[in-house]
Amino acid sequence: LFHEHPKAIHFASDGAFGKFDNQQLQRGFKVYKEVCANCHALKHVAFRDLKAIGYNDDEVKAIAKGFQIPVYNPATGELNTREGLPTDRFPPVLYAGQGNPPDLSLITKARHGGGAYVASLLTGYAEQAGYKNAKGQELLKLFPDAKTPDGLYFNPYFANLNLAMPAPLAADDQVTYTDGTKATVAQMSEDVSAFLIWTAEPKLDKRKQTGWAVVGFLLFATALAYMAYRNIWAGKK
Ligand code: HEM
Repeated sequence: LFHEHPKAIHFASDGAFGKFDNQQLQRGFKVYKEVCANCHALKHVAFRDLKAIGYNDDEVKAIAKGFQIPVYNPATGELNTREGLPTDRFPPVLYAGQGNPPDLSLITKARHGGGAYVASLLTGYAEQAGYKNAKGQELLKLFPDAKTPDGLYFNPYFANLNLAMPAPLAADDQVTYTDGTKATVAQMSEDVSAFLIWTAEPKLDKRKQTGWAVVGFLLFATALAYMAYRNIWAGKK
Protein backbone atom coordinates (compact mmCIF):
# COMPACT_ATOMS: atom_id res chain seq x y z
CA LEU A 1 0.00 0.00 0.00
CA PHE A 2 1.04 3.62 -0.05
CA HIS A 3 0.79 6.51 2.34
CA GLU A 4 1.62 10.16 1.85
CA HIS A 5 4.96 11.64 2.76
CA PRO A 6 4.55 14.43 5.37
CA LYS A 7 3.86 17.90 3.95
CA ALA A 8 6.83 20.30 3.79
CA ILE A 9 5.98 22.22 6.95
CA HIS A 10 8.58 24.58 8.39
CA PHE A 11 9.00 25.03 12.15
CA ALA A 12 10.77 27.87 13.94
CA SER A 13 13.00 25.27 15.62
CA ASP A 14 14.20 23.75 12.30
CA GLY A 15 17.84 23.89 11.27
CA ALA A 16 21.09 24.80 12.99
CA PHE A 17 19.96 28.40 13.54
CA GLY A 18 16.36 27.54 14.43
CA LYS A 19 14.94 28.49 17.82
CA PHE A 20 11.71 27.66 19.56
CA ASP A 21 9.07 30.39 19.37
CA ASN A 22 7.59 30.54 22.89
CA GLN A 23 4.42 32.27 21.70
CA GLN A 24 3.81 29.40 19.32
CA LEU A 25 4.67 26.82 21.98
CA GLN A 26 2.15 28.41 24.34
CA ARG A 27 -0.53 28.33 21.66
CA GLY A 28 0.39 24.70 21.01
CA PHE A 29 0.17 23.89 24.68
CA LYS A 30 -3.31 25.42 24.78
CA VAL A 31 -4.34 23.14 21.91
CA TYR A 32 -2.86 20.14 23.70
CA LYS A 33 -4.58 21.03 26.98
CA GLU A 34 -8.00 21.76 25.55
CA VAL A 35 -8.15 19.10 22.84
CA CYS A 36 -5.48 16.39 22.86
CA ALA A 37 -5.30 15.95 26.65
CA ASN A 38 -8.79 14.42 26.56
CA CYS A 39 -7.20 11.30 25.09
CA HIS A 40 -3.41 11.60 25.14
CA ALA A 41 -1.02 11.75 28.10
CA LEU A 42 2.34 13.51 28.21
CA LYS A 43 4.02 11.41 30.83
CA HIS A 44 7.57 12.70 30.40
CA VAL A 45 6.60 16.34 30.95
CA ALA A 46 6.20 17.91 34.41
CA PHE A 47 4.06 21.03 34.82
CA ARG A 48 7.07 23.00 36.04
CA ASP A 49 8.85 22.22 32.75
CA LEU A 50 6.40 24.69 31.18
CA LYS A 51 8.42 27.51 32.74
CA ALA A 52 10.91 26.94 29.93
CA ILE A 53 8.32 28.10 27.37
CA GLY A 54 7.52 31.29 29.24
CA TYR A 55 4.94 30.55 31.93
CA ASN A 56 5.61 32.02 35.38
CA ASP A 57 5.30 30.18 38.71
CA ASP A 58 1.70 31.26 39.31
CA GLU A 59 0.63 30.23 35.83
CA VAL A 60 2.31 26.84 36.25
CA LYS A 61 0.54 26.36 39.59
CA ALA A 62 -2.80 27.18 38.00
CA ILE A 63 -2.18 24.84 35.07
CA ALA A 64 -1.18 22.00 37.41
CA LYS A 65 -4.29 22.60 39.53
CA GLY A 66 -6.45 21.99 36.47
CA PHE A 67 -5.30 18.37 36.24
CA GLN A 68 -6.30 15.54 38.58
CA ILE A 69 -3.46 13.27 39.70
CA PRO A 70 -4.31 9.68 40.65
CA VAL A 71 -3.16 8.63 44.14
CA TYR A 72 -3.27 5.04 45.24
CA ASN A 73 -3.56 4.32 48.92
CA PRO A 74 -1.99 0.89 49.51
CA ALA A 75 -3.38 0.74 53.07
CA THR A 76 -7.00 0.90 51.97
CA GLY A 77 -6.65 -0.13 48.33
CA GLU A 78 -8.46 3.05 47.33
CA LEU A 79 -7.66 4.99 44.21
CA ASN A 80 -8.30 8.69 44.68
CA THR A 81 -7.25 11.85 42.93
CA ARG A 82 -5.85 15.16 44.04
CA GLU A 83 -5.14 18.46 42.31
CA GLY A 84 -1.88 18.62 40.41
CA LEU A 85 1.25 20.34 41.71
CA PRO A 86 4.02 21.93 39.62
CA THR A 87 6.28 18.95 40.37
CA ASP A 88 3.76 16.42 38.99
CA ARG A 89 3.87 15.15 35.46
CA PHE A 90 0.91 15.20 33.10
CA PRO A 91 -1.29 12.35 34.33
CA PRO A 92 -2.40 9.26 32.43
CA VAL A 93 -5.70 9.52 30.59
CA LEU A 94 -8.53 7.04 30.91
CA TYR A 95 -9.71 6.45 27.40
CA ALA A 96 -12.79 4.40 26.62
CA GLY A 97 -12.98 4.84 22.85
CA GLN A 98 -11.63 2.74 19.97
CA GLY A 99 -7.88 2.24 19.66
CA ASN A 100 -5.13 3.24 22.02
CA PRO A 101 -3.99 6.87 22.07
CA PRO A 102 -0.21 6.85 22.46
CA ASP A 103 1.61 9.07 24.94
CA LEU A 104 2.60 12.16 22.97
CA SER A 105 5.77 13.19 24.88
CA LEU A 106 8.11 11.60 22.33
CA ILE A 107 5.84 11.13 19.33
CA THR A 108 7.77 13.63 17.16
CA LYS A 109 10.89 11.50 17.70
CA ALA A 110 9.09 8.20 17.23
CA ARG A 111 7.60 8.98 13.83
CA HIS A 112 9.40 9.64 10.58
CA GLY A 113 8.86 13.29 9.70
CA GLY A 114 8.49 14.40 13.33
CA GLY A 115 6.50 17.60 13.76
CA ALA A 116 5.71 17.82 10.05
CA TYR A 117 4.21 14.32 10.26
CA VAL A 118 2.01 15.23 13.21
CA ALA A 119 0.82 18.44 11.54
CA SER A 120 0.19 16.58 8.28
CA LEU A 121 -1.75 13.89 10.09
CA LEU A 122 -3.92 16.46 11.87
CA THR A 123 -4.76 18.31 8.65
CA GLY A 124 -4.71 15.23 6.44
CA TYR A 125 -8.12 13.63 7.02
CA ALA A 126 -9.83 13.20 3.70
CA GLU A 127 -12.76 11.58 1.98
CA GLN A 128 -11.55 8.13 1.00
CA ALA A 129 -13.94 7.69 -1.92
CA GLY A 130 -12.21 9.21 -4.92
CA TYR A 131 -8.94 9.84 -3.09
CA LYS A 132 -6.04 9.98 -5.56
CA ASN A 133 -2.32 9.71 -4.87
CA ALA A 134 0.26 12.11 -6.34
CA LYS A 135 0.37 10.06 -9.55
CA GLY A 136 -3.35 10.57 -9.97
CA GLN A 137 -4.18 6.93 -9.25
CA GLU A 138 -7.39 6.39 -7.37
CA LEU A 139 -6.65 4.56 -4.13
CA LEU A 140 -9.74 2.41 -3.98
CA LYS A 141 -9.34 1.39 -7.63
CA LEU A 142 -5.74 0.30 -6.96
CA PHE A 143 -6.54 -1.35 -3.64
CA PRO A 144 -10.25 -2.15 -3.29
CA ASP A 145 -9.51 -3.94 -0.01
CA ALA A 146 -8.17 -0.73 1.54
CA LYS A 147 -11.66 0.55 2.29
CA THR A 148 -11.68 2.07 5.76
CA PRO A 149 -13.72 -0.09 8.15
CA ASP A 150 -16.57 1.43 10.15
CA GLY A 151 -15.38 3.17 13.28
CA LEU A 152 -12.01 4.09 11.79
CA TYR A 153 -11.07 7.25 9.90
CA PHE A 154 -9.26 7.48 6.58
CA ASN A 155 -6.04 9.49 6.78
CA PRO A 156 -3.49 9.13 3.95
CA TYR A 157 -0.62 10.27 6.21
CA PHE A 158 -1.10 7.40 8.64
CA ALA A 159 1.04 4.34 7.95
CA ASN A 160 -1.90 1.99 7.45
CA LEU A 161 -4.33 4.71 6.28
CA ASN A 162 -7.03 3.85 8.81
CA LEU A 163 -6.79 5.71 12.05
CA ALA A 164 -8.75 5.16 15.26
CA MET A 165 -8.49 8.88 16.06
CA PRO A 166 -11.32 11.05 14.75
CA ALA A 167 -10.06 14.39 13.37
CA PRO A 168 -9.37 16.23 16.64
CA LEU A 169 -9.09 19.68 15.06
CA ALA A 170 -12.10 19.99 12.85
CA ALA A 171 -13.07 23.67 12.86
CA ASP A 172 -11.36 27.05 12.95
CA ASP A 173 -11.39 28.76 16.36
CA GLN A 174 -11.88 25.47 18.18
CA VAL A 175 -9.27 26.85 20.57
CA THR A 176 -9.33 30.53 21.51
CA TYR A 177 -5.99 32.21 20.93
CA THR A 178 -5.22 35.29 22.98
CA ASP A 179 -2.16 36.56 21.09
CA GLY A 180 -4.01 37.68 17.98
CA THR A 181 -3.06 34.65 15.88
CA LYS A 182 -5.92 33.36 13.74
CA ALA A 183 -6.81 29.89 15.01
CA THR A 184 -7.26 28.09 11.71
CA VAL A 185 -7.13 24.29 11.68
CA ALA A 186 -3.73 24.45 9.94
CA GLN A 187 -2.40 26.97 12.47
CA MET A 188 -3.59 24.99 15.49
CA SER A 189 -2.12 21.82 13.96
CA GLU A 190 1.27 23.44 13.43
CA ASP A 191 1.25 25.01 16.88
CA VAL A 192 0.49 21.77 18.69
CA SER A 193 3.10 19.99 16.57
CA ALA A 194 5.67 22.65 17.48
CA PHE A 195 4.74 22.08 21.12
CA LEU A 196 5.27 18.33 20.68
CA ILE A 197 8.68 18.96 19.13
CA TRP A 198 9.49 20.84 22.32
CA THR A 199 8.16 18.09 24.65
CA ALA A 200 10.34 15.55 22.86
CA GLU A 201 13.47 17.68 23.03
CA PRO A 202 13.10 20.59 25.45
CA LYS A 203 16.87 21.26 25.40
CA LEU A 204 17.03 21.60 21.61
CA ASP A 205 17.95 25.33 21.68
CA LYS A 206 20.61 24.72 24.33
CA ARG A 207 22.10 21.84 22.32
CA LYS A 208 22.46 24.03 19.22
CA GLN A 209 23.92 26.93 21.22
CA THR A 210 26.48 24.58 22.74
CA GLY A 211 27.26 23.22 19.29
CA TRP A 212 28.04 26.69 17.95
CA ALA A 213 30.20 27.46 21.00
CA VAL A 214 32.12 24.23 20.33
CA VAL A 215 32.61 25.14 16.65
CA GLY A 216 33.83 28.59 17.72
CA PHE A 217 36.26 27.12 20.20
CA LEU A 218 37.61 24.66 17.66
CA LEU A 219 38.17 27.45 15.12
CA PHE A 220 39.96 29.48 17.76
CA ALA A 221 42.10 26.49 18.84
CA THR A 222 42.97 25.80 15.19
CA ALA A 223 44.05 29.40 14.65
CA LEU A 224 46.14 29.25 17.80
CA ALA A 225 47.79 25.98 16.76
CA TYR A 226 48.57 27.46 13.35
CA MET A 227 50.15 30.56 14.89
CA ALA A 228 52.16 28.39 17.28
CA TYR A 229 53.36 26.34 14.31
CA ARG A 230 54.43 29.51 12.46
CA ASN A 231 56.19 30.74 15.55
CA ILE A 232 58.05 27.50 16.27
CA TRP A 233 59.30 27.14 12.69
CA ALA A 234 60.00 30.85 12.16
CA GLY A 235 63.49 31.35 10.75
CA LYS A 236 64.06 27.63 10.07
CA LYS A 237 64.36 27.27 6.26
C1 HEM B 1 -3.19 8.59 17.73
C2 HEM B 1 -2.00 13.29 17.96
C3 HEM B 1 -6.33 14.30 19.88
C4 HEM B 1 -7.36 9.58 20.04
C5 HEM B 1 -2.51 9.80 17.62
C6 HEM B 1 -1.19 9.94 17.06
C7 HEM B 1 -0.86 11.25 17.12
C8 HEM B 1 -1.97 11.94 17.71
C9 HEM B 1 0.44 11.90 16.65
C10 HEM B 1 -0.31 8.80 16.58
C11 HEM B 1 -0.44 8.44 15.16
C12 HEM B 1 0.64 7.42 14.86
O1 HEM B 1 0.65 6.37 15.49
O2 HEM B 1 1.49 7.71 14.01
C13 HEM B 1 -3.06 13.97 18.50
C14 HEM B 1 -3.10 15.39 18.72
C15 HEM B 1 -4.33 15.69 19.22
C16 HEM B 1 -5.04 14.43 19.37
C17 HEM B 1 -1.92 16.35 18.43
C18 HEM B 1 -4.90 17.04 19.55
C19 HEM B 1 -4.83 18.05 18.61
C20 HEM B 1 -6.98 13.12 20.10
C21 HEM B 1 -8.28 13.00 20.69
C22 HEM B 1 -8.57 11.65 20.73
C23 HEM B 1 -7.45 10.94 20.16
C24 HEM B 1 -9.12 14.17 21.21
C25 HEM B 1 -9.79 10.95 21.28
C26 HEM B 1 -11.04 11.36 20.97
C27 HEM B 1 -6.32 8.91 19.42
C28 HEM B 1 -6.28 7.46 19.23
C29 HEM B 1 -5.08 7.18 18.55
C30 HEM B 1 -4.40 8.46 18.35
C31 HEM B 1 -7.33 6.47 19.67
C32 HEM B 1 -4.58 5.82 18.08
C33 HEM B 1 -4.88 5.71 16.61
C34 HEM B 1 -4.51 4.40 15.99
O3 HEM B 1 -3.47 3.81 16.38
O4 HEM B 1 -5.25 3.97 15.07
N1 HEM B 1 -2.97 11.03 17.99
N2 HEM B 1 -4.25 13.43 18.92
N3 HEM B 1 -6.50 11.86 19.79
N4 HEM B 1 -5.19 9.46 18.89
FE1 HEM B 1 -4.75 11.44 18.88
